[in-house]
Amino acid sequence: MNVGVLTGGGDCPGLNAVIRAITYKGINHYNYNIYGIYEGWKGLLNGGRVAPLTIEDVHEILGRGGTILKTSRTNPFNIKDGLKKVRKNIEKYRFDAVIAVGGEDTLGVAAKLSQAGVHIVGVPKTIDNDVSGTDQTFGFDTAVQIATDAIDRVRSTAEAHNRVVLVEVMGRHAGWIAVKSGIAGGAHMILVPEYPVDIDKVVTSIVKRHARGEEFSVIVVAEGVKLLNEKGRGVAMAQDNKKDAFGHVRLGGIAYALSLAIEERTGFECRNVILGHIQRGGTPTAYDRVLSTRYGIRAIELVHKKQYGKMTALRGNKIVATPLVDAMKNVKTVDKEFYKIAEVFFG
Ligand code: F6P
Repeated sequence: MNVGVLTGGGDCPGLNAVIRAITYKGINHYNYNIYGIYEGWKGLLNGGRVAPLTIEDVHEILGRGGTILKTSRTNPFNIKDGLKKVRKNIEKYRFDAVIAVGGEDTLGVAAKLSQAGVHIVGVPKTIDNDVSGTDQTFGFDTAVQIATDAIDRVRSTAEAHNRVVLVEVMGRHAGWIAVKSGIAGGAHMILVPEYPVDIDKVVTSIVKRHARGEEFSVIVVAEGVKLLNEKGRGVAMAQDNKKDAFGHVRLGGIAYALSLAIEERTGFECRNVILGHIQRGGTPTAYDRVLSTRYGIRAIELVHKKQYGKMTALRGNKIVATPLVDAMKNVKTVDKEFYKIAEVFFG
């Protein structure tokens, strides 16, 4: 069997651990040929790069951040004859199956290709943890730990200066990183994309808190937070109007906008910190290394059993297989019940 592996979308800690697990199990256990498809779906379009993967290529990559296969936000369905080109290249390389490691965009493409008859297995990655059908994506645990460490550090300087500090974390559609790192870091307020923000309410809560004698505040804000405008509509903060191949604008700056608004209305000195790609870089936590390894092993097992059109998923403490098409129906967002736990500590 010839199996191609690709990593697409934003990178995240644990990608190399998945590649390593697929390669070890594929070669040593099944005697397969494993191929790396470079730069996500771009590798299966004309001019893309594909090369065999050996045990030597992967044996020391478990704890390495990024992805040895590189990544891109390429959408074959946005390119003329993209599906045809992908099929042609799969035939050219004689792939019996492709394992796609990605988030909602990469796996969305995988689901469509699978419906078109391509033999695909998916592995859910993203620091945002917004893929449905699984309890957790790999990369998320590492991002939450990085954000929690940052909040802990910001807290002491905020306290020393009697400031309001806003920490902006990633999370386009879902506020999982914000809510988990915010709870872990004891944030005084956590703002997430799921619940549009009324700036007046934020100000009232901060003023109340400071009136009680608490002289500093730490607010965690997900980058995708929407501010309510005068018409009552939630509007996200984009850096510019440019969109990527999946139609997403580049987010960022909500913490800065909020810090200006809070300082103006309260007179409290405000600062903002954008954690950005620091959350996606570097070595995965032990939890993510193990989860990624389990996902990789399960993915190649699914290929072996010809269970195409499936995605590996964590349910409780088991790794299961779930239909890709089902997992792509919705984005997994922060539910009210979970957010209520965070709200207990607001203000
Ligand atoms: O991978 C998801 C994500 O981390 C989002 O939270 C964020 O909006 C986006 O990637 C940033 O992507 P890029 O690397 O293209 O700036």
